[in-house]
Amino acid sequence: PALSISSSQLYRHDKGWHSSLSPMVGTMVADACFTARPSDIVVATLPKSGTTWIKALPVCSSDHPFNSLGPHECIKFFEYQLYTENKIPDLDELPDPRLFATHAPFVSLPRSILASGCKIVYVCRDPKDTLVSHWSFVNKFRIREGLEPLSVEAVAGFFCDGVMPFGPYWDHVLGYWRAHLAHPEQVLFFRYEEMSRDPEAHARRLAEFVGRPFSPEEDGAVDAIVKLCSFDHMIGLQATKSGKMHAVIGAVDNSWFFRRGVVADWQNHLSPETARRIDAITEDRFRGTGLLVSG
Ligand code: A3P
Repeated sequence: PALSISSSQLYRHDKGWHSSLSPMVGTMVADACFTARPSDIVVATLPKSGTTWIKALPVCSSDHPFNSLGPHECIKFFEYQLYTENKIPDLDELPDPRLFATHAPFVSLPRSILASGCKIVYVCRDPKDTLVSHWSFVNKFRIREGLEPLSVEAVAGFFCDGVMPFGPYWDHVLGYWRAHLAHPEQVLFFRYEEMSRDPEAHARRLAEFVGRPFSPEEDGAVDAIVKLCSFDHMIGLQATKSGKMHAVIGAVDNSWFFRRGVVADWQNHLSPETARRIDAITEDRFRGTGLLVSG
């Protein structure tokens, strides 16, 4: 099979949202079904880390119909939209550079992605904000399906236990971080918090990384792209207001990808005890890797 997932129950299990998700950890487009090209660009994230935002940057600076289709239609996910059950798409006809997205862990990527030398752009986010964003997103599915919303503390329990659609947060981030350290020219590593602080610098770094740097005369263009991709602008796009992402997990209203778009909103939702628990795991897993902001 192109893809070994059965995710129709995703987010909908009556006893929680987690039990049908473990197969997603092994999500992988089989090597026989996908061959990367050196010119491909792959956006990799955990859900709720800023995927929509990082997709928007290359999309809105190209010919893609950003306003009407939105970033998720313009850059499709391997595992949700392209290699769905019983469907192997013909991607050979797509013009260069092909843009793809994935939530798969680094170890689950098709081997040709690394071997081809194509570019991977990863975004990570504070685990506490990722968790809160995820909790809110999952409950949108559950409410639509007539299921009880889950408490943030219940979802925090799953999160800390590593029971997440694409595996434990910490393993996911470490996988791409180590790949970045080993192949910095091939794997770009961004943090949502730093993108929020200086979106312009990140737009420039991204453009340089994919081999299309902005010239000094293009300062105005960078500014325009950053504004087009801002939360406040994107929430008003036609695609956000009325569009849907048709994925193997079901149709997702594009508006669901926009909640608050701020840093440290976890402070409004998590108990101090839960925040401390997540911080302790993060310190433990990231110590000595260079990933901790404090060293
Ligand atoms: P919050 O739920 O904290 O608001 P993803 O795109 O990976 O699903 O992540 C969604 C998160 O990114 C949501 O976070 C959403 O509000 C935020 N987001 C979406 N578009 C954004 C943008 N253009 N700028 C900043 N944050 C954005």
